[in-house]
Amino acid sequence: MQDKNIVLNDKKIGIIGVGTIGGTLVDALIKNDIVARERIIGSTSHEASAREVSEKYGIETTTDNTEIADEADIVVLAVEPQLIEKVLDGVSGSFSPDQLVISVAAGITTEFIESKIDGGIPVVRSMPNTAITVNEGATVLVAGDFASEEDLELAKLIFEPVGLVEVLSEEELMDAITGFSGSGPAYGYLIIESLIEAGVRVGLPRDRATKLAAQSLLGAAKMVLETDEHPAKLKDMVTTPAGVTVDAVMKLEEGGVRVAFFKAIEEATDKSRQLKLDGKDG
Ligand SMILES: NC(=O)c1ccc[n+]([C@@H]2O[C@H](COP(=O)([O-])OP(=O)(O)OC[C@H]3O[C@@H](n4cnc5c(N)ncnc54)[C@H](OP(=O)(O)O)[C@@H]3O)[C@@H](O)[C@H]2O)c1
Repeated sequence: MQDKNIVLNDKKIGIIGVGTIGGTLVDALIKNDIVARERIIGSTSHEASAREVSEKYGIETTTDNTEIADEADIVVLAVEPQLIEKVLDGVSGSFSPDQLVISVAAGITTEFIESKIDGGIPVVRSMPNTAITVNEGATVLVAGDFASEEDLELAKLIFEPVGLVEVLSEEELMDAITGFSGSGPAYGYLIIESLIEAGVRVGLPRDRATKLAAQSLLGAAKMVLETDEHPAKLKDMVTTPAGVTVDAVMKLEEGGVRVAFFKAIEEATDKSRQLKLDGKDG
């Protein structure tokens, strides 16, 4: 195992569970020259998917997680939350404190992971989203009891090139983060899909409606991030008195759009908490 005081490109990264988010991460690491493909090893549960992953990304794959725990400097846990306990039980003896474990599993606490792998192994819990594919991800990191500032920096090196990274000290907020930005792209797609249908209904060709809806949301998101103005103020700027937009806003409010989001995020946060309970975490 190598010393942590070196650049990420000298590290070997192991990803346990190269599925949707694990695969997205592998792709992002390679495409952005964050880590060379030769330094990435991934695992799946089936031989067939291990072969597929190896062919797709050109990385070494295995179905034996202990190979990953033995070889990698940084081990990313990217299996479904319900499988985390079983996976950790299978590799718990293979870790050493000079490694770093990064989990992306929804609802699974650093305390739970630490309790499963003995020996004060540093753990960083992360919650990325699939927009890391296009370098526009939103990732939140939180350090476990044994993770140092340096470990957080290493985790940042992985996620910063693929989007926004926020570090939190309150791990209890991670369930809200999971239901908020972890699931965030799905909410964006739903809004875009609804706008497209609405555009088609008033006569727009579907392809034009798709581009215009996506670009309108991209533009609005950039305005919020780059002008630092409150979204309500930016909305006011689009909303001419007695104009077109205010009529549309009235209809959206009539449809309970805000309350729908309140309820959706609350439901998703509760579900993330439930995953933690299912994972038998105290
Ligand atoms: N999808 C998202 O947007 C998102 C966002 C943030 C965080 N997450 C988190 O990411 C994790 C994975 O979610 P996902 O959507 O990527 O799931 P997924 O697409 O179902 O991928 C799961 C992967 O884990 C592999 N796997 C299952 N059991 C394994 C084992 N015992 N050892 C090694 N690999 C094993 C599967 O391999 P096989 O195909 O061979 O079974 C598959 O490659 C979850 O904990 C989730 O909370 C997901």
